[in-house]
Order: sequence, then C-alpha cells, then structure tokens
Amino acid sequence: MEKAVLSYNGKQYELPVFNGTENEKAVDITNLRKDSGLITLDVGYQNTGSCQSAITFIDGEKGILRYRGIPIEVLAEKSTFVETAYLLIYGHLPNLSERRLFSQRLTENSMIHEDMLRFFDGFPPTGHPMAVLSTMVNALSVYYPGYFTDNFESDTFDLMAVRLISKIRTIAAYSYKHSIGEPFVYPRHDLMYCANFLNMMFNSPVKPYNVEIDMDRALNTLLILHADHEQNCSTSTVRLVGSSMANLYSSICAGICALWGPLHGGANQRVIEMLETIREDGFTIKQCISMAKDKESRFKLFGFGHRIYKNFDPRATILKKMCHEFVAKYNIHEPLIDIAMDLENAALADQFFIDKKLYPNVDFYSGLLYRMLGIPTNMFTVMFAIGRLPGWIAQWKEMHDSRPLKIGRPRQLYIGDNIRDFVPIEQR
Ligand code: ACO
Repeated sequence: MEKAVLSYNGKQYELPVFNGTENEKAVDITNLRKDSGLITLDVGYQNTGSCQSAITFIDGEKGILRYRGIPIEVLAEKSTFVETAYLLIYGHLPNLSERRLFSQRLTENSMIHEDMLRFFDGFPPTGHPMAVLSTMVNALSVYYPGYFTDNFESDTFDLMAVRLISKIRTIAAYSYKHSIGEPFVYPRHDLMYCANFLNMMFNSPVKPYNVEIDMDRALNTLLILHADHEQNCSTSTVRLVGSSMANLYSSICAGICALWGPLHGGANQRVIEMLETIREDGFTIKQCISMAKDKESRFKLFGFGHRIYKNFDPRATILKKMCHEFVAKYNIHEPLIDIAMDLENAALADQFFIDKKLYPNVDFYSGLLYRMLGIPTNMFTVMFAIGRLPGWIAQWKEMHDSRPLKIGRPRQLYIGDNIRDFVPIEQR
C-alpha cells in the first residue's frame, strides 16, 4: 500500500493512501490524532472523504457523472426514474421480472394512510411545501413503523424503500392540492410513476387532465438527473443522521430539510425568483453581473457555481438542451428563458466567473423546465427531493451494509475561552 508521510515536530508519521477505482487517492488519517496529537481541519468538508462508496462517481474537472458506472447522459436518454432508482439502490439495472416486481410494489404502496390526510388540515395553505413534505415523511415512521436499524433485515428495508419512493409523490401532490384548496386526487394503479404524479397534481373534478407523453418523459429525465450526487450536503446529512441508527424515514426527513436551503436544492426556486425580479424590476444583464460580483450587494447569481464541478455540470447541459426542445416543439413564449440565456452568456464571458470557474449548475435550468410542466415555483425543491430520494436511500443502505457502523462525529478546533471563574450574578 502507498503511504504519505507527514512530518511534524521532528517526527515522521506514515499515513496509508487508499486508491479509488477511478484512480482517486485518499490519505487515511483515522489514527493521526492517536499517533501525533493532530486532527485535520477542513471547514465545510471541502477536501474530506467521509466514506468509501460504490454508488456515484463524479469528476468535477471533466464534467463526468455516473450512477453505478453508467453515464448520466445514457440514463437520461434511455432509462426511467423507477429503473434508475432500482439501479442506485440495488447496484444493477433490474431485469424484466425485477422491474415488474419493483413497479408492482411501488403501485401497491402509493396510498398514504387515510388518517394522515387530516395532517394536511393542520397546515396553513400558504405553508412552504418543503416543510409539509419533511413533516409528513417523518410522520410515516408513526404509521409504517417496523424498521429500525437494530434489527436490520433486507425484506423490511425493501418495503421501507418502496413505501418512501411511492408515498413521497402522493404526499407532494396532496400538499399542492391542499395549498390550492382542491380535493385530493388518489393515486391510480394503471399509471406509471411520473404520469401518476402528474395526474395527482393536475387532475381536478372540473378540469380533467391527460398526461402527455412528452411531459411524462421530461419528468422522468428531471428526476433521473436529480437521483444521486454522492456526498453532497443533504446526502451527508442522511448518512450522519442514519449513523446514529435513526430510522430511514427520520434520516430522509433530515435530508429533505438540508436540501431546502438555497445554497443547495432550494436554489431552483431562487433561480426563477431571481429571473422574475430581473424582468419585473428591469435590471440589465450588465447590472446583474456586477451585482453578483459585488460581495456587498444582496444579489446572488443562483444556479451558478458548484463545489465539485469546475468546468461544466453535465446535468445542466442536458436540461438546457431539453428546455430549448420544449420551447421549439410547443412554441412556448417564455421570456425568462431569454433572460437566463443572456445571463449565462454574460457570466461565461466575464473574467470573474472564468477565474472562479463558475458555471450554470443543475438548478439553473431545472426550474424553467418544471415551470413548463406547470409545477408551481414553491414546489421545485419538492421535485428535487422526489428525485434525490433513491440516492439518499441507496447511500443510507450502503452505510448500514458496511459494518461496523460508525457514528458520524467530526472533531473541532476549540478557539473559545480557557477555564474561567463562575461569577455570581450580583457581582457581574
Ligand atoms: N455568484 C457569484 N459568486 C459566486 C457564486 C455565484 N453564484 N458562487 C460562488 N461564487 C464565488 C464566491 O463568492 C467565492 O468567491 P471568493 O473566492 O472571492 O470568496 C468563490 O466564488 C467560491 O465560491 P464558494 O461559495 O466559496 O464555493 P463553495 O464550493 O463553498 O459553494 C455553492 C458552492 C454553494 C454552490 C456556491 O457556488 C453558490 O452559492 N452558488 C449559488 C447557489 C446555488 O446555485 N446552489 C446550488 C448548487 S447545486 C446543488 O446543490 C443542487
């Protein structure tokens, strides 16, 4: 095994170096503190590997993203969301009978317990759907208990996984119906995953809705592109919460909350709001670019920049193309797309963005596509959560499969006061 050598205080410490299958290398510092008294400091985990994983590979410099070895471009074109979910969780593409069984189990588990419908009455219709989603997903552990990690059994895990993947779309659609005051549309056994979701969202007693094939396909592609992204903020959250042996529902609930933030999945909502502000307030593209560069300004170019991608985000490339295909095919007049294109072109030509390697990320174009599907802006991050769910489940499973389970617990560099006297209140 290769070793790296750290020299400190006149002593040398040998640190094992692990190789990944794509020739990535990692220094193992597990025993560093024991041997040398040192810990590593890496605020925001910018260069820290938290696990070994066989699920998703990303090369940020080359713009490569693969699930279980299969390029994202191939999956986006040839697979469905359900098949990709299976691939992520079980490590291989399902054969016909595996896919049939998986789909059948999703169908059988699509309803939520009727008592849970009353929960929606407790939420104000204006409440953010991500808050509703995280609450309802955690509440599933009350209605569908049975799997806690101390009695890990794969059959029970399989059931938990299909329950979550199926019920999350029912919960999401019901939260939308509740917000607009329309009756819930129950899931149908004759519709596939994405078509079923669109039907639950948009069918209504007064205005029947037919799911168009292109809409179904676009939603499949969007969800596939969201399905996993190795150790990002929300996935690391799912792993960290799961590492304490918290159950799957609660771990996923925590992931949903982490995804909500505008620096992560919440950026897709912010992108559209930003484009709308630019249009409504009449900002020029030049003004936007200079505001984005000005750290004192409150303006941020959402949908730009990424911790890992330093050349291009392959998901954004696929979505940008899809956006244009939709506009051309359906003759859509969407002024926000023109603003987005102008903004992208101006940023890509600007030295600040070139130097900092800032490119459009997945969220820059996903919101525009969700908008064309008729999804309301405050539901965009919910859509991201539905898509990311199989990845979270796969990562949670991988962590539990690789025994011994180690609780996640980083260290810190304490920079506070040294020991101080307690001063009674009358003497302060
Ligand atoms: N607009 C303007 N400047 C930016 C942007 C941006 N969108 N993104 C990064 N920068 C600048 C930073 O100010 C920083 O400048 P500095 O070196 O002078 O301090 C430099 O580029 C590096 O950026 P960091 O924020 O330090 O990079 P980090 O890897 O920590 O953050 C992040 C990545 C959070 C995605 C960041 O680029 C960002 O805030 N982007 C906008 C929000 C967004 O689109 N998030 C979605 C990401 S994709 C996803 O999670 C699904």
